[in-house]
Amino acid sequence: MLKCTQVSKRFGGLQALKNVDFTVESGEIAGLVGPNGSGKSTLLNLISGVYKPDSGQILFLDEDITKLPPYRICAKGITKTSQTVQSFPEMTATENVLASVLFNKEKSTERTEALLRAEELLGFVGLSKEKFGIPAKSLNVVELRKIQLAKALATNPKLLLLDELLTGLTPKECDEAIELIKQINRQGITVLIVEHVMRVIMGLCNRVIVLHHGEKICEGTPQHVCNDQHVVKVYLGKRFLLSGEEE
Ligand SMILES: Nc1ncnc2c1ncn2[C@@H]1O[C@H](COP(=O)(O)OP(=O)(O)O)[C@@H](O)[C@H]1O
Ligand SMILES: [Mg+2]
Repeated sequence: MLKCTQVSKRFGGLQALKNVDFTVESGEIAGLVGPNGSGKSTLLNLISGVYKPDSGQILFLDEDITKLPPYRICAKGITKTSQTVQSFPEMTATENVLASVLFNKEKSTERTEALLRAEELLGFVGLSKEKFGIPAKSLNVVELRKIQLAKALATNPKLLLLDELLTGLTPKECDEAIELIKQINRQGITVLIVEHVMRVIMGLCNRVIVLHHGEKICEGTPQHVCNDQHVVKVYLGKRFLLSGEEE
């Protein structure tokens, strides 16, 4: 579905990504992990068009999207949630999602229909109903993350990029989020997730890619990656069992 070939990105003197080869298969939940500053968010920003690579190519469904602007990439079916939550602070939860529902739509789209879709999505991501009419600036970060996910789903993505969406959740909220992401995937949406909590990666992903200093150092099943000496040394610090339990 997605193929990145020899992708590089430099910020001034800093090589954030170096010749990264990387694919996402249709229907899977792939994980992207690595230490802070290893280039995970940069890679998602290149895929979604926020940044342009200095060199390399990005293909989505056999089409070259390397040079397309983010709104065109979104229209083609790739949507990203950001690591730092963003919203229209004065607008209500529903209005924030409505903006996404109406994005790329015909001018004639019924507002009532769009409103119903926005509320349906907010319900799906688990925002409690009494929060729907509250301005985003008065909501907490967990609620804003739910809105962000609803906004992403509102664009009908084929490939959903999630950048540390589960950060700050309690273990129970984390389990609910894992179920939600599985449910989204079962609806036919391919997922690429950046996440630090290995339990989440183990519970969700069929394949994991590890970045270190902007380079891909390992790729494979969660079990393979967690048993890789180099990955253990530079990132995990200790071995993980297949169950996700620390030894
Ligand atoms: N817009 C930017 N301008 C300058 N440096 C950046 C920018 N975005 C990221 N970086 C740098 O690129 C490196 C990789 O960052 P990032 O992709 O955010 O890492 P990660 O998401 O893995 O923590 C870091 O050293 C970061 O400081
Ligand atoms: Mg990041």
